[in-house]
Amino acid sequence: MSHHAEIKRRTIPSLMQHKHAVPMVVLTAYTAPMAKLLDAHCDMLLVGDSLGMVVYGFDSTLPVTLEMMILHGAAVVRGSQQAVVVVDMPFGSYQQSPEQAFENAARLLKETGASAVKIEGGAEMAPTVSFLVARGIPVVGHVGLLPQYVHTQGGYKAQGKTDAAAARILADANALDQAGACAIVIEGVMEDVAATMTQAVACPTIGIGASGTCDGQVLVVDDMLGITPRSAKFVKRYAEMAAQIEEAVHTYAAEVRARAFPTTQHSYRKKP
Ligand code: KIV
Repeated sequence: MSHHAEIKRRTIPSLMQHKHAVPMVVLTAYTAPMAKLLDAHCDMLLVGDSLGMVVYGFDSTLPVTLEMMILHGAAVVRGSQQAVVVVDMPFGSYQQSPEQAFENAARLLKETGASAVKIEGGAEMAPTVSFLVARGIPVVGHVGLLPQYVHTQGGYKAQGKTDAAAARILADANALDQAGACAIVIEGVMEDVAATMTQAVACPTIGIGASGTCDGQVLVVDDMLGITPRSAKFVKRYAEMAAQIEEAVHTYAAEVRARAFPTTQHSYRKKP
């Protein structure tokens, strides 16, 4: 038996504490070492299917598979102790039917140890959300700019610009809330629309490019660390890690070529 002080992982019901209160802090995470660095500071770690673009170099999230999400989800759970871990369901793994969604969501929870899944879509996904929630699978919804709908939305553009579009997104959020979503990600939505949605729904909203009116915020970790070369208007780059990595690798390459690395300090030698 371990004598270490037990660190308890946050629970899905505890997310409700962030409704109209201290904002929920969420970042994406895809690997165990990054999860370890983020864990103490975040309420939730989201294993986003953005990993298709961020980690695998695809030009959309559509090629991401359930197997990828399982491997990265399990790594993030292993690397974290206290944050709630939520794993994205990839394109094609839940849209067909509530039954298909249950089968794949169950695999995600069983094989990763995560606490919830996230699915994209509005009112059309409400029956799937209630089907999963009724069977023990917490679901985070995702409305507004939907990367898995890149072809129907015609690119990655802010949503809810007309009154009709804003009303549709509000109806989407209400439908997911009533279906039992434990939180709703609002992506790329006008500030006033996000504020109305946050007021309207009982569950906490988590904004990305959706203003400070939401009950929480999420960013893609590689974006906020400045690893991604270009980032959207809504991203604040808290570091410029790409430049630091470039500089370190430049120095390493120069030292290897000049035989300045390794020195005796980094070599194994017999003791005299
Ligand atoms: O895939 C993802 O990382 C996401 C967040 C950006 C919300 O869905």
